[in-house]
Amino acid sequence: MIVTTVVTLGVHNSLAGDHPLYLDSSQPLEARIDDLLSRLTLEEKISLVHADSKFGTAENARLGIPRRWLSDGPNGVREDIGPATWAPASHTDDFSTAMPTPICLAATWNPELSYEEGVAIGEEARARGKDIMLAPCVNILRTPLSGRSFEFLGEDPFLTARMAVGYIRGEQSQDVASCVKHFAVNNQEYARDSINVEVDERVLREIYLPAFFAAVKEANVWTVMGAYNQFRGQHCCENDYLLNKILKTEWGFQGLVVSDWNGTHSTPKAEANGLDLEMGTDIAYDQYYFAQPYYDGLKKGTFSIAKLDDKVRRNLRVMFVTHSFDPNRKAGAFNTPKHHKIAGQIAEEGIILLKNEGNLLPLDPKGIKSIAVIGENALRPHSHGGGSSEIKPFYEISPLQGILSRVGHQVNVTYSEGYQKDADSELAARAISAAKASDVVIYIGGLNHDYDNEGQDRKDLKLPAGQDELIQKIVAANPKTVVVMEGTVVDMSVWVDRVPALLEAWYPGMEGGNALAGVLFGEVNPSGKLPCTFPKRLLDSPAHALGAYPGTNGTMIYKEGLLVGYRWFDSKQIEPQFPFGFGLSYTTFEYSNLKLVNEQGPNGLLVTAQFDVANKGDRMGAEVAQLYIHQKAPSCFRPEKELKGFKKLLLKPKEKQTITIPLSRSAFAFYDAEKQGWVAEKDEFEISIGSSSRDIRIRNELRLSETSITK
Ligand code: BGC
Repeated sequence: MIVTTVVTLGVHNSLAGDHPLYLDSSQPLEARIDDLLSRLTLEEKISLVHADSKFGTAENARLGIPRRWLSDGPNGVREDIGPATWAPASHTDDFSTAMPTPICLAATWNPELSYEEGVAIGEEARARGKDIMLAPCVNILRTPLSGRSFEFLGEDPFLTARMAVGYIRGEQSQDVASCVKHFAVNNQEYARDSINVEVDERVLREIYLPAFFAAVKEANVWTVMGAYNQFRGQHCCENDYLLNKILKTEWGFQGLVVSDWNGTHSTPKAEANGLDLEMGTDIAYDQYYFAQPYYDGLKKGTFSIAKLDDKVRRNLRVMFVTHSFDPNRKAGAFNTPKHHKIAGQIAEEGIILLKNEGNLLPLDPKGIKSIAVIGENALRPHSHGGGSSEIKPFYEISPLQGILSRVGHQVNVTYSEGYQKDADSELAARAISAAKASDVVIYIGGLNHDYDNEGQDRKDLKLPAGQDELIQKIVAANPKTVVVMEGTVVDMSVWVDRVPALLEAWYPGMEGGNALAGVLFGEVNPSGKLPCTFPKRLLDSPAHALGAYPGTNGTMIYKEGLLVGYRWFDSKQIEPQFPFGFGLSYTTFEYSNLKLVNEQGPNGLLVTAQFDVANKGDRMGAEVAQLYIHQKAPSCFRPEKELKGFKKLLLKPKEKQTITIPLSRSAFAFYDAEKQGWVAEKDEFEISIGSSSRDIRIRNELRLSETSITK
């Protein structure tokens, strides 16, 4: 029997008088790894490739290898769990900054802010003693029903990649490893442990892998988490094609692959197919697939020591690059005012103005005597929910608190719940009379984490608890009604035309209430843009239109192919409720003067799109200029348009700026599975630039004069 915690001699005793090379930070990384590897016994090696608690691996006191702590997740450092069970550890020092959930971060279209968030979470992780942070989650929002769509960065691979790269660079700058997850095609929660995903090679490369590729090649992510589901008949944590062939061989990934919690199923498959660290299996730690059974197989010669050494090397490499052996490792800080400010800024930039008839918003408190705030979400906290991404926040400002602290001193603000889980006519009647009696109504409803939750998909896009009817009655009672939706995509078709003003606030984190009040009363000019299409009805969205969800006989075939999100709506000419990239402002922007400037720069830089954006109003505002590419006569099917660049810019009233967006050859390319490379064809391309995928303001064309293939 092997033990998972290797405690023999104390580090000071065993290393006394010795100055091992691996502890000398001036030595080259690989030499340090080699040196430490050569000192490890077989038992000690095994202890480095599996967990010894829910989120930790064993320390090795003899050699001074510290215990490693892993933690969720994407929107902050999770409360401490375990060690042996999923129950909270009941610590009193594990409150942290609760950032808005990733779908809100994606709605900012601001990779610099994503970097800032990464730095902040990295600092909090260090202050809480964490080594590997299990984020970002870059699975593509294929169906709006996915229970984790709030954790995704939207439906587009380019946007997802840009936001993920910023986040990872920021987080890893703090001596913490990020863990990009879940590799790959983990796009639904329904049957997530077993569903077998079949997806065409080109679609895999163009839609589902680019964000992982960018995480590895651009952001240098140090760890990757395998997904629960199967891909082409093999579980993703033991998937030869994904882990060995693509990730480690093709992309040259040098870090470690960690299993999702309870995502490992077999010692020989995990051993052979690329897993490096087993976590979360629901059996005794010493019986993990990578504990006793692995040890026994190695002793018998069934498994190769060279393979084990490769896994150990990868684990050690991550420890060395995060300075785990270094006394000067960054110490971090948590719950700093700066972190809370970043949480607020993400919420401010991620909240989206979807409708604003007659400029009802922003509200001017000077002209209003009374406001009826209605809706359960006006008071409901969300940070401590949703599954593994939950946070124990230091505090959480509710929308009602935010509104009260902004205007409570000058406006009479009343609150009525309006609905509960099970609709209640009494509550509704009270809310309607409050609506009638007030100058303005702010309705704050939508979903909560009973619906948007890991491990389950939603059944449909309907608003729960009779909200469809309630909203209509409230607007009938008071036409000056602002509707705020929290949560993810819902079907708004019943009431959206009757509502004059509409905001999407997602799950906006601990500062969400203040951010929302800032938008409602005009201190903040909204600039968020949708990172996913809002369909009029579920059956308009691709997987559902084609009956390609939730799978048949345990297999999920991605029949819509490349046509995920707006690629489908645009190519099939289906009118969405609100298109990808859409979001209004309290000012207006004018686009002009698009020039395509030929470049021959580094990294295959080909052309620069140069254009002007002007703020025509008298309020400062930020715009996200989006660049889409369309190939005119491709030799194979290509979607109508594809996002290949964007820039967020802040403009003072009447200010005009010249923007440049560089495009390399890869921006024009599709993946050719036969040639196993990216093909940019000799052809004409249209470059469209606008304020959303359906609001194109300027266009220009260019011709590629030769076909090229990049491997
Ligand atoms: C989730 C992962 C998470 C892990 C650890 C799993 O259920 O799929 O995203 O990191 O648990 O909490």
